[in-house]
Amino acid sequence: MAIPVTVATIASYAEQQVELQGWVYNKRGSGKIAFIMLRDGTGIIQCIASKKDLEEVEPGLFQRLRKLGQESSLIIRGTVHAEERAPFCGHEIHVTSATVVGESVDYPITPKEHGPAFLHDHRHLWFRSRRQQAIMRVRHAAIRAIREYFDERAYVLMDSPILTPNACEGTSTLFATDYYGRPAFLTQSGQLYQEAGATAFRKTYCFGPTFRAEKSDTRRHLTEFWMVEPEVAWIDFDGVMDLCEDFLVHVTARVLELARPQLEELERDIAALERVQKPFPRISYDDACAKLAELGVHVEPEDDFGSPQETALANSFDRPIMVHRYPTAIKAFYMKEDPENPARALGVDVLAPEGYGEIIGGGQREDDLDVLVGKINAHKLPMEAFEWYLDLRRYGTCPHGGFGLGVERFVTWLCGIHHIRECIPFPRTLDRLEP
Ligand code: 4AD
Ligand code: MG
Repeated sequence: MAIPVTVATIASYAEQQVELQGWVYNKRGSGKIAFIMLRDGTGIIQCIASKKDLEEVEPGLFQRLRKLGQESSLIIRGTVHAEERAPFCGHEIHVTSATVVGESVDYPITPKEHGPAFLHDHRHLWFRSRRQQAIMRVRHAAIRAIREYFDERAYVLMDSPILTPNACEGTSTLFATDYYGRPAFLTQSGQLYQEAGATAFRKTYCFGPTFRAEKSDTRRHLTEFWMVEPEVAWIDFDGVMDLCEDFLVHVTARVLELARPQLEELERDIAALERVQKPFPRISYDDACAKLAELGVHVEPEDDFGSPQETALANSFDRPIMVHRYPTAIKAFYMKEDPENPARALGVDVLAPEGYGEIIGGGQREDDLDVLVGKINAHKLPMEAFEWYLDLRRYGTCPHGGFGLGVERFVTWLCGIHHIRECIPFPRTLDRLEP
């Protein structure tokens, strides 16, 4: 009897009779011998079928295998042989029998070059390719590492709602929907609800999809992306920056442990990830502006940084940097003003090296009721929608803060790939809702 196995564990079955289920990744051969690269989701293995052997088992089977199209599904039985020169996994299968399960004719994605639009139209099939599998496995490793980080440090997972009555990150990127006759919005960030969580549990986090109706189609923007957002009570601004730093150091190291082969497959410069060590340079917005002036990069006074400024700044360092104390006027209503200079807010952006830009945004929250009411008015936000949020300041307010990491921005940088849309299973962008 053949033992059912997967490619990932094949090394334990040398010289044994096994059964593999999978798909034809690739194929070559002659009239007498066929080499089938079988992809089973855990790896790829070369299977060798000889006409002479198979004709005895089932006449016609060899011809059928020879003609199988790319991505046909089949069950293969045979003996495992260690073979250093075999492609992919150092082992090969000498086929003794096979069952074709589902033929695939004219598979649309062939080894030739396809454009990104074509590949994204076929996203549901594109995952079968090696590069996309490596990216998804890095994403999985990152998410696992992130959860481990918070779970091991007494954070309580308290997910925020997705349907919300109000804006968190400004009103220009809201997706509106009809909620039984009244307007509702897809959440831009779970933060406000985590602030309620932190006053109950001290440390909480949420991890879920967030939505921004981004009008610009850039390599850094999705309209639906995943964000992890820790929130901590009794923390000050330096504490928030320490947390961002500690988190990124741990999570990056853990991804290197969990997904090094995939990063190598993507030809990522591993040394760049190994340099993610404390301390990260901390630079104020004002100092960053001075540095940009030295570098000859223009910044509109008191304006937010865009991709050119972020890239120029980050390129001056070999690890992530933390830019803090941005102008209050350009930041969200909930950010606490710097007591030493109210024109600056206690907010921080973590910029990834190598031009990947902002991966974390966070800061200390305004904890004074009257100041916060003033901010909500100044930002022309509807006060009724924030009454519950103001309660957090009415009933036992305390210093608190946290951050949000965009998972796909993080994974894009970890993998060292160009465009964020390859780092989420089914990207949603300005011009794409399908598949
Ligand atoms: O800087 P942002 O807007 O901060 C917040 O939403 C805070 N409420 C988070 C918090 O303090 N709890 O977004 C946080 C991160 C960004 O640094 C970026 O990584 C990611 O979310 N992000 C996006 N990722 C992909 N596509 C977009 N359109 C993104 N917008 C933000
Ligand atoms: Mg931001």
